[in-house]
Amino acid sequence: MGEIYTIPIEKLVPGLVLAEDIRHAQTGVVLIPSGTPIDERHLARLKYFRHAGEEIKCMVPEPPGVADVSSPAIETGIKPLPLTVDETTRKIYIKAFETTKKFFSKYKNIEYADIQAIKAVAENISAQIVRNPAILSHVAILKAIDSYTFSHSVNVAIYAAALAHFLGHSTAEINGICLAGLLHDIGKLDIPRKIVEKPGPLTEDEYKIMQKHALLGYLRLKKTPHINENVLAAVSQHHEKIDGSGYYRGLKGDEIHPWAIILAVADVYDALTTDRVYRTALLPHEGAEILMASCSLNHLEFNAVKFFTEKIPFYPPGTRVVLNTGEIGYIMAYHVNTPLRPIVNINREGKGSMIDLSRNHTVMITRIIR
Ligand SMILES: [Fe+2]
Ligand SMILES: [Fe+2]
Repeated sequence: MGEIYTIPIEKLVPGLVLAEDIRHAQTGVVLIPSGTPIDERHLARLKYFRHAGEEIKCMVPEPPGVADVSSPAIETGIKPLPLTVDETTRKIYIKAFETTKKFFSKYKNIEYADIQAIKAVAENISAQIVRNPAILSHVAILKAIDSYTFSHSVNVAIYAAALAHFLGHSTAEINGICLAGLLHDIGKLDIPRKIVEKPGPLTEDEYKIMQKHALLGYLRLKKTPHINENVLAAVSQHHEKIDGSGYYRGLKGDEIHPWAIILAVADVYDALTTDRVYRTALLPHEGAEILMASCSLNHLEFNAVKFFTEKIPFYPPGTRVVLNTGEIGYIMAYHVNTPLRPIVNINREGKGSMIDLSRNHTVMITRIIR
């Protein structure tokens, strides 16, 4: 490697190599280790975690052929494991997805729709979560099906129900929160399609129109029989922020309905960790870092984010991953309170070898192999 340069964050470009560890401001945990070649994904994270004008130490890599370029990641002979999603979970997820899609399509042109089928889906999801919250660990693998709107609604419902479960809510409340998750973006039916489906970031004017979906969703559901007040509040407030900078009412802290606080965490996490036309999905631990940063900014609620990131096994055993060491492995197990730093089994010199990411802070997961 060549000389070390100190470069302001906004001038960093992909291809430079970090010459210092990037750490989480509060915990000191290494987020991106020194020696990592910077790519678009890292740039987005750096801009999120550091202030404009802050400087980062970087190196310019030697051109290939001059330096000792290590061989690229190669398959190490580990056979792909069968997906560990059980049949019941798979059926619940697919049924939820199909019912939500049908419900949204039917509801588009009528005043109100029959809510019973979607209520039944919420009850199925909640019952499964109460029985086995690890259902969530499978969502990361299943989520990339069909259009974003419907899989997003189902994922948010599942994440929100699980978070409600971990926060100690009753089964009836988990049902309600789950239903609110399925319906939270229903107001987008009243936003022009060209804005909702725009394959790129929205302009300021488009964003203002998009923000109306929280109120429009509330107005739609208010006319729908058999929806309780808590669901209405959760849907209308899912974009409110703890510091009052959210929409559409700018509610603050305790003024925000507790179900909306849960929905907000689930909503932000799913959006960050799902592929969109204009950006690649963040990995679970990267999504979790952004949630923590949102807590520091007083946007998301601390306790909800803490339970979400500490309880939900986002790297389920069996998931195949690539590490920043170039090695390929699969998740063996995870620690109950640090599921985002699991134990990975890799093949070293023909033998299985374990790396506990909770103890090896410089080893990172860089990709999930689906
Ligand atoms: Fe929304
Ligand atoms: Fe959403």
